[in-house]
Amino acid sequence: MIRSRIISCGSYLPRNIVTNADLTKTVDTSDEWIVQRTGIKARHIAGEGENTSDMATMAAQKALDNAGLTGADIDAIILATTTPDRTFPATAVTVQDRLGMGDHGFAFDMQAVCSGFVYALAVADNFIKCGQIKRAIVIGAEHFSSILNWEDRTTCVLFGDGAGAVILEADENATGTKEDRGVLSTHLHSEGKHRDILCTSGGPSKTQTTGMVEMNGKEVFRHAVHRMGQTIEDTLKFNNITAADIDWLVPHQANKRIIDALAKRIDLPAEQVVVTVDKHGNTSAASIPLALCSAVEDGRIKQGDLLLIEAMGGGLTWGSSLIRW
Ligand SMILES: CC(C)(COP(=O)(O)OP(=O)(O)OC[C@H]1O[C@@H](n2cnc3c(N)ncnc32)[C@H](O)[C@@H]1OP(=O)(O)O)[C@@H](O)C(=O)NCCC(=O)NCCS
Repeated sequence: MIRSRIISCGSYLPRNIVTNADLTKTVDTSDEWIVQRTGIKARHIAGEGENTSDMATMAAQKALDNAGLTGADIDAIILATTTPDRTFPATAVTVQDRLGMGDHGFAFDMQAVCSGFVYALAVADNFIKCGQIKRAIVIGAEHFSSILNWEDRTTCVLFGDGAGAVILEADENATGTKEDRGVLSTHLHSEGKHRDILCTSGGPSKTQTTGMVEMNGKEVFRHAVHRMGQTIEDTLKFNNITAADIDWLVPHQANKRIIDALAKRIDLPAEQVVVTVDKHGNTSAASIPLALCSAVEDGRIKQGDLLLIEAMGGGLTWGSSLIRW
């Protein structure tokens, strides 16, 4: 059978770092409050004129370099983002052009907010498994700072900008067992009735603006622990494994307290959980590939390791994937 193997990754964070101490100069908050409630210490904010496509291209180019490939080797770009450069065209086509792909392959954006990377990975995996493409770049890239109300302390302290990318490649000789390297399963969910607990105040058709992030923090927290916990357990069950078989949990990086609660729920030691939220806050669709890349680059994640990734975001959307590196 065909499996999609992840052959490389790349990431990009803007140079400008905004610490909790910096934020105390503009909103009524404190380092202690932010760290205690979220574990976040700093976030990276895109520079003047730096767009989602710029960050996405940097991450994708690094992933290509790490794999020894060029844009000409890629059949599809799926870019998960909530903060496209423009309402249209898709930001993915700008990345396609910058990677020198000409008219080769196809490129489109995916909108599932913080679950975007898991959704995009699932879509790319299915394109590969059905034999339609051989290689895809899946990118999560966000310029979340542009949709934040910087006077609202309940949201502006939580988010940041950045991008991460992975390259998926078809392995046509997979055995179909969980010993295969690559994406072993994907699990996607949504429940639209909760769309208003985490959303923007506007959009093209509603207000002819982009709107700004609005959130019922307590409700989102409650759903996050419940839904991400549920999808982790479903993923383990579907693959007939237990948490003891997992080498790494690579969760959506929204809040350290949510991550800790999820690890505790499945009894996974803290040393097996990849945490980067302290360094870059919640980067929405970019958060999982950023965390993944950091643990690959520092040598923690090794070939053959079993990884579980999971996320929840506005929609509500949530999902997970089991991957053998
Ligand atoms: C946002 C979150 C950290 C708030 O923590 P909380 O314990 O629920 O805090 P509350 O909302 O009850 O607020 C407690 C107090 O802190 C205040 N507060 C809110 N933000 C603050 C800030 N940045 N600094 C200082 N005080 C703040 C509130 O105004 C409130 O004050 P009050 O009691 O005088 O009204 C938490 O709800 C959370 O993490 N939710 C999930 C968010 C998330 O992950 N979203 C993305 C999902 S993809």
